[in-house]
Amino acid sequence: VRIAVVILAAGEGKRMKSPMPKVLHKIFNKPMLQYVIASALKLKPSRIIVVAGKHLKQIKDSINAENISFALQQKPKGTGDALSKALPFLKGFSGVVLVLNGDVPLMRAESLSGFLKAHTKDKNDISLMSFSVSNPFSYGRIIRDTSGCLKSIVEEKDASPVEKKISEVNSGVYAIGSQAFKLISKIPLNKLKGEYYLTDIVGMAINSRLKVKAYHSVEEDEMAGVNTIAELMRAQRLLQKRIAYEWMGKSVTFYDPDSVFIYPDVMIGKGSIIYSNVYIEGRTKIGKDCIIYPGVRIINSTIGNGVTIKDSTIIDRSVVGREAVLGPFAHIRPESKIGSKAKIGNFVEVKKSVIGDRTKASHLSYLGDAFIGKNVNIGAGAITCNYDGREKHSTRINDNVFIGSDSQFVAPVEIGKGAYIGAGSTITKNVPPMSLSVSRVRQINIENWAAKRNLRSEKKARNKNKK
Ligand code: UD1
Ligand code: CA
Repeated sequence: VRIAVVILAAGEGKRMKSPMPKVLHKIFNKPMLQYVIASALKLKPSRIIVVAGKHLKQIKDSINAENISFALQQKPKGTGDALSKALPFLKGFSGVVLVLNGDVPLMRAESLSGFLKAHTKDKNDISLMSFSVSNPFSYGRIIRDTSGCLKSIVEEKDASPVEKKISEVNSGVYAIGSQAFKLISKIPLNKLKGEYYLTDIVGMAINSRLKVKAYHSVEEDEMAGVNTIAELMRAQRLLQKRIAYEWMGKSVTFYDPDSVFIYPDVMIGKGSIIYSNVYIEGRTKIGKDCIIYPGVRIINSTIGNGVTIKDSTIIDRSVVGREAVLGPFAHIRPESKIGSKAKIGNFVEVKKSVIGDRTKASHLSYLGDAFIGKNVNIGAGAITCNYDGREKHSTRINDNVFIGSDSQFVAPVEIGKGAYIGAGSTITKNVPPMSLSVSRVRQINIENWAAKRNLRSEKKARNKNKK
């Protein structure tokens, strides 16, 4: 059967108490609506229509909206009215219309396709997904007759005290066959709320002797609607858990799965071990057998196999070669490339730099706009002075260079292969290969100076006492 998906996303989302359209509120780095679209895409529908309101342009611009049509619902006059706005985009379509709410982000494509199969197999005109909740407040309640057949959906505002106690609720997911299409534009106005309720289509279809069925097979965690920031964060928490457990099923170990945030597009290699309070964001790729210690944040980066990242390290938009060791307290800023088996130790900041294989910067350095070759040893406190107050300049340090502690490189400057830089040097000129460069005041030792000074002050003290 051909499927068209309509996603309702034009509500104002007043309960979010936020100026941003509700469906653009993010779970991790993506708007809620993007998750709904992702699930819809997996069903390979012949078209996807998003019904949006006055924020249509903002929504269109904020999501990846390839091959998606947008229908405008100028005023939020209810879910029934919203669906009717999609009808012009469904002209000539005769399959099943799958209606989704833009504020139900955790639905799985597998659940939706199971639901569609049941809809087709049972030859229903309308099917809907229901689920049970501990607190049904604000959901539409599923009303069944004594034999268990679906009768209608009653919304919170219209529910009697007895109906309010019903814990089976409407998820907002519907499959509508072509026989029932014509009912969409006939949904009456609900006077109490001044809205057209899509849920009323159920009672209407039953009255028209169409076949309607509610499937109660998914968990609350998957179907929970998001109307408030608290519910948004609850959904994020559920997704966080879902992702952590998925990775644990693929041979990744989390010491504390509740405190590790793996964003949805992240990849992690087998055998990697991740300690607590770790954030792995964006499209980061982690290799096999890595160890990531507590408090690490990695954003849009690629980490090779066997890398160790010690506590409280940040890696942003960078590439780390295999078996490198980073941290604790290292800061790898965007556009950096750390070579394999390199070591970037505590309080080392790297920005837009290449660090060669097996090169070590173990303590307290700033390496910015630098190209550093292989096997370079960078002593504690070495700094590239890349900024002259106006422009950035680059430093090039070639293979096998040894850099003494507390050296500065006033860029632009280049250090030739195998050269040595004496500790405490300020390097302003290029250094030829294999040479030693020292730039500091020569040390002088004044012998017996301290002893003489002591004698002088003793004498003074004696003269004072005499007076
Ligand atoms: C709706 C259902 C309720 C169900 C719940 C599931 C109705 C009347 N109620 O209630 O039975 O249990 O979802 O989460 O359908 N929207 C529009 N235009 C509008 C109004 C809403 O596009 O004029 C969109 C919203 O952006 C949202 C979705 O429809 O994505 C649901 O709207 P919302 O106001 O959140 O409905 P609920 O009160 O949650
Ligand atoms: Ca809702």
